[in-house]
This record gives sequence, structure tokens and C-alpha cells, in this order.
Amino acid sequence: MSRLVVVSNRVGIPDGSARAGGLEVSIRPALKKRGGIWFGWSGKVAEERTGAAKTVEHDKVSYITIDLLKGDYEEFYNGFANRVLWPILHYRLDLAEFTRRDLGGYFRVNQYFVENLERVLRPDDVIWVHDYHLMPLAQILRERGHKNRIGFFLHIPCPPPEILTGLPNHERLIPALCHYDLVGFQTENDANNFSRYLANEVGLRRAGDDGFYYEDRVVHIGIFPVGVETEAFTRLARRAISTQFVSDVMASMSDRALIIGVDRLDYSKGIPERLNAYERFLANFPDWRGLVTYLQITPRSRTDIREYADIGRLVGETVGRINGTFGEASWTPLRYINKAHSRSSLAGLYRYARVGLVTPLRDGMNLVAKEFIAAQDPDDPGVLVLSRFAGAARECSAALLVNPYDSEGVAIAINRALGMPLEERRMRHQANYAALTRNDLTQWAERFLGRLEEHVPAETETRPA
Ligand code: F6P
Repeated sequence: MSRLVVVSNRVGIPDGSARAGGLEVSIRPALKKRGGIWFGWSGKVAEERTGAAKTVEHDKVSYITIDLLKGDYEEFYNGFANRVLWPILHYRLDLAEFTRRDLGGYFRVNQYFVENLERVLRPDDVIWVHDYHLMPLAQILRERGHKNRIGFFLHIPCPPPEILTGLPNHERLIPALCHYDLVGFQTENDANNFSRYLANEVGLRRAGDDGFYYEDRVVHIGIFPVGVETEAFTRLARRAISTQFVSDVMASMSDRALIIGVDRLDYSKGIPERLNAYERFLANFPDWRGLVTYLQITPRSRTDIREYADIGRLVGETVGRINGTFGEASWTPLRYINKAHSRSSLAGLYRYARVGLVTPLRDGMNLVAKEFIAAQDPDDPGVLVLSRFAGAARECSAALLVNPYDSEGVAIAINRALGMPLEERRMRHQANYAALTRNDLTQWAERFLGRLEEHVPAETETRPA
């Protein structure tokens, strides 16, 4: 079997320094099983380019990281990746702040990644690149003569061509993905949007059911919904429920029903809309007042970017308004926390909660939704209220699916979830859990890598006359 080289912006070094985002959580088990290299940014900003990558060896995996310069961090990470690609790929053209300087920084850092990566590359390595930070990586590798099998997986949504074409310089960036052998998406919708873009905007011809001819090669497109380690997470939650941390939370609840939301502080997560829905719920279903507590755990994220500061302010104000309006001396309707919690603490809280609120305005998959399901006690499960705009809604269709823009509809769903009879809760949970075991994290990685490796080498595939 060829050596696996994973490349992503964040690297989940098992030294406690990495913050576990969805991407790191997904990649780690695949690499742990197979071994190989995980290459990416150290998360550090250096004064000058030393050119020296740092390597940490752990459990068959070499974690190789490079630092970014301040200008790289500004233009590549805060700039083009998170001020332009992130909003646009989440359907928010209105929030994109494009500059040519940032675009230049984006390509420069991708080039810098390649220059460092190729020092450790072998010709028969299989390279798996992750997410929107590194879209041009294969093109740069190809231009420098690398013929490796290279796959790309987009963890976040791919919007329709009508939105993608609003991305300045999309003609340079999106077709660059065709230098990969396989481009993977979370859902059918994302894959179809990309295919439509290639067919209509780039004018590429179809190659079989799942590919397109591009220059002298074929790019294959696949759907690989990312999963969680379902059974391991269930075990974690079962253990976590009796930890001191969860016991303390329970003791503080005075037998009230727990509603939980866990999201990075990001406008794509629909947190203000969700809070408005909770406010509606308290207004329209007054019998629940004093009987529920909503806990929203929201670690801060990308704090140098204005939109993130704005959303932080808005959420803070909304929390204040709700507690001010509905709170009593003996009851706080909403607890809002910016501190990140360990996976074990979250697993325990999910298991204890009666309702999980996962209502992003747009999300590639959303692993909180899947972890919430995995954490439930099958005999007495809580209910997931899930946005139909999260990738997870396709598989977890037995959740209460909602439109996050419809605060009244979400309020009704919260009321329904809290009052749902045990039989219905069990039925819904069983259906969702079965979907998660059919497609858990190991199968996700195996399916992607299996597909990537099954194709004949790129250079032997030719465009028909
Ligand atoms: O899922 C998208 C993503 O950008 C991941 O790459 C990352 O794990 C997570 O969001 C957190 O974002 P950031 O790396 O910008 O802190």
C-alpha cells in the first residue's frame, strides 16, 4: 500500500496544542490506522521565513508543520481563505471582502506549502489534500512535475455556479481543482453544483458517470459524507455522563430540561437566528418558562475578522435581551459560554440534554449533529432539531428538520422536541443512529482513499479524439 500524505491547513498534532475542529477530528483516525504524514501549518506566526519544517513523530504518523509569516497569515488565512472563500462557499457573497493582495497571498502560501512538502514526497505517495485553504495545491505540484495520485476533499459547502461565479478570479481558482484525480464533496448537492460549474462555466466534457476531461487528464468527482466514530463516541458519552463535570452541571439544573447548542462563533452557524427562535419559543409556549435551560457553548473563532467580532457582539446583546426579558431571580433561561470544552465534557452534556439545537444557515456536514445522536441513551434519547441546510440533514433525516430562517418554525420544533413521547424519540433515534453506523468515520476515509487509488494513473487517461 502506498504511503499516505495528508495536507491540510490545520494539523491535529497530538500534543494538546491543536484545537480540535471538525476537520482535525475527521482526519486523525484515518491516519492513525494507516500511518503516514500529516503536513500543514503549525498555527504559529513567525518573524521570518526560516524554511525549517518541524516534525513530530507519533504512532506511525509524522506530523510536519511550517510557520506562516505575519503577511501570510493576514493575506492567506484571514484574507482570501476566510474573508472571501469561506463566506462565498457558504452562499454569503454579501460578506466577501476581496482584494488582489489577499489573492496573491493565497497563491504564495500554497506555493510555500508545496516547496516544503516536496522535500518529503516520494513518487508513489498518495496525497490527500483537505479544504478550501489549499485548492490550487495539485496544480502547483503538477507544474513542478509531480505525478502522484492526488485527491481533494472539500469539508464545507460548494454553492451553485450562480454564486461561484461571483468569486473574483473564479476562472483561475475553481478549474484548478481539475488537477486533482478525485475531488470529494459532502453531499450530492455540493457535487452537482461543482459539476454544473465545470460543464457550464468551463465547458468541460463529461468522462463517464463521475468525471470530466480537463486538458490531458480526467478529474473524478465523488460524494463522501464525513462521519463520526459512532460507537467510540457512544462509549465516551456513556462514561462522561458520570464525570464530576457533568454531575456539577446536572446539579445546577434543578431538574430543568437541558437544551444544548455547540458551535464555533461563526455567522454560518445561525446563532442569532437560533437565539431569536428560543426567544419566540419562550414567548409562544409560556408553560415551559422556568422548566428549561438552554446552554449555548460557543468558542470564539477567527477573531481578527470584523464579521466575527460583529457576530460576537450581536450574540452577546441577544443573550442579554433574552435573559433580561424572561429571566427570574431564580431562573436564567439561557447560559452562554465562550470557553471551549473537551470532547468528553461535550459528549456527557449531549447525553444529558433533552434537545440538541444544530441550526446552521449553511454547513458542509456539521459533526455536532452526528455526535449529539451518537451520544444519546437509546432507551431514553434526546431529540435533535437540525437545519435542513446542514449536510448532516441528508443522513439524519429522522431529526426534526427545520428552516433556520423561520424562527417561529424552530420555536415550534423546540416545543415538539421537549414534549415528544418516548416511543417517537426512540424510533427517530434508532433511524438516525443506524445511518451513522452505516457511514462512520473509518468508512469515510476508506471509501475516499479506495476511490482515489482505484483509478488508473492519471497520465494514461487521455481525452478521446
Ligand atoms: O471545517 C472548516 C474549518 O476551516 C476547518 O478547516 C477547521 O478545522 C475549522 O473550520 C476551524 O477553523 P479555523 O481553522 O479557521 O480555526
